[in-house]
Amino acid sequence: MRAPTTRAGRGALAALLLAGLAAPAAAAPATGATASSRPPSGAVGSLSDVIPLPASVEPSGRPVVLGPGTVVRVQSGSDAAAAAAEELVELLGPATGYRLPVVPTDGAGTGARPLAGISLLVDEEDPALGDEGYVLEASGRSVVLRAGTREGLLHAVQTLRQLLPAAVEADEVQPGPWLVPGGRIEDSPRFAYRGAMLDVARHFMTVEEVKTYVDSLAAYKINHLHLHLSDDQGWRIEIKSWPRLTELGSTTEVGGGPGGFYTQEDYAEIVAHASARGVVVVPEIDMPGHTNAALHSYPELNCDGVAPPPYTGIEVGFSTLCVEEEVTYEFVGDVLRELAALTPGQYLHVGGDEAHVTTEEQYAQFMCRVLPLVEATGKTAVGWQEYLPLAPGPAEGGPLAVGQYWIPGTPEEGMVESLARGNRVIMSPADHAYLDMKYTADFPLGLAWAGLTGVEDSFAWDPATYAPGIGEDVVLGVEAPIWTETLEDLDDVETMAFPRMPGIAEIGWSPQETHDWATYRERLALQGPRWELRGVDYFRSPEVPWQE
Ligand code: ACM
Repeated sequence: MRAPTTRAGRGALAALLLAGLAAPAAAAPATGATASSRPPSGAVGSLSDVIPLPASVEPSGRPVVLGPGTVVRVQSGSDAAAAAAEELVELLGPATGYRLPVVPTDGAGTGARPLAGISLLVDEEDPALGDEGYVLEASGRSVVLRAGTREGLLHAVQTLRQLLPAAVEADEVQPGPWLVPGGRIEDSPRFAYRGAMLDVARHFMTVEEVKTYVDSLAAYKINHLHLHLSDDQGWRIEIKSWPRLTELGSTTEVGGGPGGFYTQEDYAEIVAHASARGVVVVPEIDMPGHTNAALHSYPELNCDGVAPPPYTGIEVGFSTLCVEEEVTYEFVGDVLRELAALTPGQYLHVGGDEAHVTTEEQYAQFMCRVLPLVEATGKTAVGWQEYLPLAPGPAEGGPLAVGQYWIPGTPEEGMVESLARGNRVIMSPADHAYLDMKYTADFPLGLAWAGLTGVEDSFAWDPATYAPGIGEDVVLGVEAPIWTETLEDLDDVETMAFPRMPGIAEIGWSPQETHDWATYRERLALQGPRWELRGVDYFRSPEVPWQE
């Protein structure tokens, strides 16, 4: 299917071809401490029954009871606190039946005698909180969520949600009681980037399906949704300057279905929905290969000027934009410019994988032209690992470039050198993190070219030791791609994502020293009833001790 190849010798070409690009700084990974033991249970859950496992958990005291009189207090004047409070009230509303009043507070809830209710406070002065960290304290009649940013508060809200009984996920009123275990959580992520990729090219997913998927990802503090928006089988994003991409190129998908595309308004709706939940959209236009839908739409993008027929199979590596023609770069520039204007996030993903009918020289020539086009949009380039050796990197005066590691085995030649030049990598090794791989040989969905990936297999790896020469300091984070050759709708995608996706989220967030399958699988089992109540499809793998 996807036959991995390595491309030798690109590192040397990189220096020659790509010079003089400016550089933002890379994010430094955070570290954390271990979680402590469980408090006595009853109707109340445990403070450490959370995925991803928080960096530090100290149970103490009695549970806090939420009731219809609970007040949500938000830091006066803080949009971040107001946004997180809105998310909290929306999440708790249906099952509790409470319409929790939101009132301003001046922050007095942080002292020795915290105000009753749930307080959301922003503390921009505490460096320990970082970009995404938070503190949650539950004692007496008060739950205090404190963070330096909106993202941190949103993560605190998701933790609070998991601390409440699973019934909180129901869409109609449940009896409660709504108990939050007492104690203190201090939490921040190991890696800045925790992603999930959805291939909407092989099978199109509707706006509603993507938004629902985002909700499931945000629950585990996944903060990037990478959308694979173009491939041989379909072009999925409206580009106003090249309208035939969607008029012609969107009308197919694997198996001959009708396909589909997002208007720019649709895309903006996905971006806004994701952002409200702390998730940044990373759009991918795959090139120069994986481009049959574009080549079918515009004959001039083909070296022979002849448009190929649409493609609805699942082979890879047969298509390429015409590297030598200037119109190719006008096309790429226009697409990247429109996409960047629609995308508030930092990253544009340019694909670059499996360009099997493009020579090494052509590939280098192409990337040499495309990377400055990304830079011109003000965004940071991300691409599959094949392109990384070509990126000059900050140490050579270039911009930061991010590679996405996917090919099982040793790194691409030139990749370690590229990372030494200041570039960074997202770890998605296909033998652990590709969640479209079958769980078992007879599993009805998915592919198996990278092997079978059970729940433990997807959990049992460390991004900082997976590949020789690629250590913690150059890893930006992790991402779990889901390719949809065999997955026709969101139900299929969810069945592959759950229960494996939370394990990828935990790898990306929790301190490595807490990584432990035996205790993780117990926590994972607690998520089953939550997915059932939320209508999320999942595979009841025998590896997980689900409760009846
Ligand atoms: C890939 O799986 N071709 C990135």
